[in-house]
Amino acid sequence: MRLVLVGPPGAGKGTQAEFVAAHLAVPKISTGDIFRANVAASTPLGVKAKQYMDAGQLVPDEVTINMVRDRLAEPDAADGFLLDGFPRTTPQAVALDKLLAEFGTGLDVVLELVVDDDEVIRRLSGRRTCHGCGRIWHVEYDPPQREGVCDRCGGKLFQREDDRAETVAERLRVYARDTAPLVDYYGAQGKLVGIDATGPVEDVTTRAIDALRSYGG
Ligand code: AP5
Repeated sequence: MRLVLVGPPGAGKGTQAEFVAAHLAVPKISTGDIFRANVAASTPLGVKAKQYMDAGQLVPDEVTINMVRDRLAEPDAADGFLLDGFPRTTPQAVALDKLLAEFGTGLDVVLELVVDDDEVIRRLSGRRTCHGCGRIWHVEYDPPQREGVCDRCGGKLFQREDDRAETVAERLRVYARDTAPLVDYYGAQGKLVGIDATGPVEDVTTRAIDALRSYGG
């Protein structure tokens, strides 16, 4: 299955991507994770991306599209993938359609995680991520046993730079302006399915998997 997850910052895309990709046995490809790994390694791509990420802005389309093109050409993505955080502009969506057409294939479904802005702000202000394995936690909704330490690998937890309140507000504005139009774009293609992404994580996963069943997932 070739699947895209779309939704505002903090909707739970990264959280659900892990479970849904495992269920579908496809690789999870997160543009945010790829950018963050490049920032951490101070690669030229990371240096370029950091200035946009820290400001809550999108990395330019050309840079992002080239990066995704390279990633989708890797062998593990040949039979399916879950894209988390891409596309998030109409030019990115058009480029993805074109790229998949070149591969002789196309997207099967776009899953929209629906949550309101107040919940997004609650989720992002309490998010913590593991330095070791990338597991996403929340201080209130999904806390580890020991504060600041990952239950899964013992790694140290950190708060993302772009989860500061003023950056979150900008990310929400950018989402409404640049990414929300994709709901209509994919709706017009008959590929969009939306689910309520509030409530316990496992309930959202169940809703996601149920929604994907009618698309062959
Ligand atoms: P990216 O990493 O993609 O960030 P985002 O889309 O803003 O999404 P987040 O990762 O913040 O949230 P999420 O929806 O994954 O939520 P999560 O599961 O963590 O992108 C970061 C930046 O990179 C962008 O701003 C941009 O600069 C750049 N970038 C990336 N892709 C790009 C692209 N295509 N084009 C251009 N630039 C790009 O959950 C959030 C919190 O809520 C966690 O603490 C979690 O534990 C908790 N939670 C999750 N589910 C629930 C639930 N059901 N109930 C309670 N709490 C929950």
